[in-house]
Amino acid sequence: MNDIYRDYCTAYKLTPENSHGFFDVVGPLYFSDEVQSLEQYEQHLEINRLQHITSVAYLSYRICQRLGLDADAAARAATMHDLFYYDWRDGETGRWHKLHGYKHPNYAALNAKELYPSLTKKEEFIIRRHMWPLTLRLPNSREGFVVSLSDKYCATRELIFSLSKKYKEKFKRDLESM
Ligand SMILES: [Fe+2]
Ligand SMILES: [Fe+2]
Repeated sequence: MNDIYRDYCTAYKLTPENSHGFFDVVGPLYFSDEVQSLEQYEQHLEINRLQHITSVAYLSYRICQRLGLDADAAARAATMHDLFYYDWRDGETGRWHKLHGYKHPNYAALNAKELYPSLTKKEEFIIRRHMWPLTLRLPNSREGFVVSLSDKYCATRELIFSLSKKYKEKFKRDLESM
């Protein structure tokens, strides 16, 4: 099991003891009603939005720790990177779905500022630009690249989990063996 996959798995069984300080950084934010409410929204098929942001935030946090980057900023921004309170599948289909990919980073940034008024400019940009390369707006910090790439990594695994029975069984076995 490589470090990235191990951290990804750990995100599914995070406790204050095994989180390498993650909850010390994002605890109040993570356990806020707003962030916890994301559990009600489907993100990638069988994976809900709270599970998704937990994986992205924890993975980004650990990668930044290893690289000596600002892990706290990455964890905070990633915790709020998909902070929007609707299901993007609702409403008109087709066009709406496509635009969502472009618009939701800005909605999330506005919601993040409301929930966490001390959000720094750097954290705001990490959120606004996390959909690169779809949005063509390049992250402007190394932490931003880490969050953006972690987002893709987690989304890919979440989709495979939902679509492949074989992968799902292996993932569950991996979790149990940790
Ligand atoms: Fe997103
Ligand atoms: Fe995301």
